[in-house]
Amino acid sequence: MLRSPMIVRTVPALRRALDSIRARKATTALVPTMGALHDGHVSLVRLAKRRATKVIVSIFVNPAQFAPTEDFSSYPRTWKADVARLAAENVDLIWNPDVKTMYPDGFATRILTEGPATAGLEDRFRPHFFGGVTTVVGKLFTQVRPDFAIFGEKDFQQLRVVTRMAGDLDLGVKVIGSKTVRERDGLAMSSRNVYLSPEERHAAPALYKAMKESAGRLRAGDDVEAAMAGGAEMIAQAGFVTDYFEARHAETLAPIKSAKDGPVRILVAAKIGRTRLIDNVAV
Ligand code: PAF
Repeated sequence: MLRSPMIVRTVPALRRALDSIRARKATTALVPTMGALHDGHVSLVRLAKRRATKVIVSIFVNPAQFAPTEDFSSYPRTWKADVARLAAENVDLIWNPDVKTMYPDGFATRILTEGPATAGLEDRFRPHFFGGVTTVVGKLFTQVRPDFAIFGEKDFQQLRVVTRMAGDLDLGVKVIGSKTVRERDGLAMSSRNVYLSPEERHAAPALYKAMKESAGRLRAGDDVEAAMAGGAEMIAQAGFVTDYFEARHAETLAPIKSAKDGPVRILVAAKIGRTRLIDNVAV
């Protein structure tokens, strides 16, 4: 029979729940989310289950990673459906703090990351983003103190930034990346896909097709500029306005001169209508 996960909303309640988990010598994996859960999140939870005996999912729409012009207030919130999904996956604990619990009055600390956080990709278009992500993830890591934390590869720069931060600050958590889950036509699953109109949804798989095209050309030994220009053209043709479409070193996210400077990752961010999508593939 399915058991509903335990839901906790305060730091003392979280501590008590974790103390009782640790008293049983269980290992823990944390899956940080902002809710609006889809099959991509479910795959993170399943990976967490394979790594640890107890799985904790945090659901917190983090205001600190949204600029005032972005979609914090309209970000999809689907609490009941999220809990049902997590119950079906046998998650042990849901950590669901409110904004005041995470950022009490007078909160005045922000984690500042460099290296992959200043690679000139997301940070160039969303300068507030990584400060907000690392601050909240730093808090989640110190609150939960998990053995493992699972992040989707879809937010590839975020994965690199959080991995770096966990190591640099000796947070004692092993960060694990989980493969992107795609719709049948290649579109990466994302909570923001609900914003797409039917026409935009129809055009959206062009991002994945373009990355595959450029990845194939890089693998075949094409010049980086030429290989990326072909994919960029496909994205524009599909009606996107591109923020970036780039081949980077998969670990450092530094620009590359040739596919031989790899491992290489192609990363894209582009807007269709009012919706901004990001995605990436390995070369
Ligand atoms: O990837 C996300 O959903 C968020 O950036 C995260 C990691 C949960 C931090 O708010």
